[in-house]
Amino acid sequence: SKGGYPHFMLKEIHEQPRALVDTLYGLSSDPTLREASKIMAEARRVFITAAGTSYHASLHFAVALSKIAGVLATPFVASEYEAYLPVVREGDVLIAVSQSGETMDTLKAARAFKERGAKLIAVSNVVDSAIPRESDIALYTRAGPEIGVAATKTFTTQTLLLSFLVLDYALLRGAILKSEYDEYARELSRASDLAAKSIAWSEGLAKKVSEMLRLKQSMYYLSRGVGLPTAMEGALKIKELAYIHAESYPAGESKHGPIALVEEGFPVVFVVPRDVYYEKVLLGNIQEMKARGAWIIGVAPEDTSLGEQFDLFFRVPSSHWLTTPITHTPPMQLLAYYTSTLKGYDPDKPRNLAKTVTVE
Ligand code: M6R
Repeated sequence: SKGGYPHFMLKEIHEQPRALVDTLYGLSSDPTLREASKIMAEARRVFITAAGTSYHASLHFAVALSKIAGVLATPFVASEYEAYLPVVREGDVLIAVSQSGETMDTLKAARAFKERGAKLIAVSNVVDSAIPRESDIALYTRAGPEIGVAATKTFTTQTLLLSFLVLDYALLRGAILKSEYDEYARELSRASDLAAKSIAWSEGLAKKVSEMLRLKQSMYYLSRGVGLPTAMEGALKIKELAYIHAESYPAGESKHGPIALVEEGFPVVFVVPRDVYYEKVLLGNIQEMKARGAWIIGVAPEDTSLGEQFDLFFRVPSSHWLTTPITHTPPMQLLAYYTSTLKGYDPDKPRNLAKTVTVE
């Protein structure tokens, strides 16, 4: 049932605080997280693969692993596995991330890696689905069933789970102290509250902005570093649901080509993580877009120094950069939802898409 909401998607956006609490609770009592860390610690190399939204969560994992544990993971889009296969050997590990656990591209990549001797860690939302069944170990988000074709609560819960995997692994390897672990964990344990605030603060504005956005044909979603996977997820939502052409790329790339498209009124969403470094480098990117007349939509912490730069400002709660997907994604989910419904589309069943893609 839609629980009083007009669409499953809106219901599932609003379920995120609950889904995050449940996932957090599940992790706190699950020895599998430690076992997965051990497999990673014994591995020579770490690969992570997925499709669509789950791929964006995988990118978050790779950035967090590098910044917190000082270890490089290789993320790749599941359907591209063939290009990575020649280097895979025993002693490698592949983390396969799939909400449904049934995505054929991800399953094929997992099988091929396994055949070459890699260990498999599955991250899924569906207990005993195909990918977890074929893996050495399975970690589960507890988002509950997701009916809307667009992934929402499964993305934020995946990033929460994968962040904890990074922390547990970093602690096991001695890359961080127990006191540092506790500090990160404290930030992550605010996830539910952060998501609830982010949703409450942005819903009204998302509704309003959709009235202007529905007239646009094309837009950019820009960020850097820890904000980029979240910007990519924002672009995917507006594409899938509102059928607006949206491109996401690292903001520093603008001057290497994409800025040629920018003219008066061209919408550019900037995802700004809470971090002085990102605020500083993104300021220049915002200004170069403004100079060409771009319509600047900021998704940024309430206390950002960039507030005055934005034509529209989605305020999100101020928190650690590790929680960027949890704080910054909800406004973009809502923006896609309201633009879709305003244009008369069904956000639960976007054209040409299936919830689970079981063909290659
Ligand atoms: O079930 P999975 O996580 O393996 O699905 C992967 C993609 O098909 C999925 O995320 C897709 O991109 C969604 N429609 C995104 O909203």
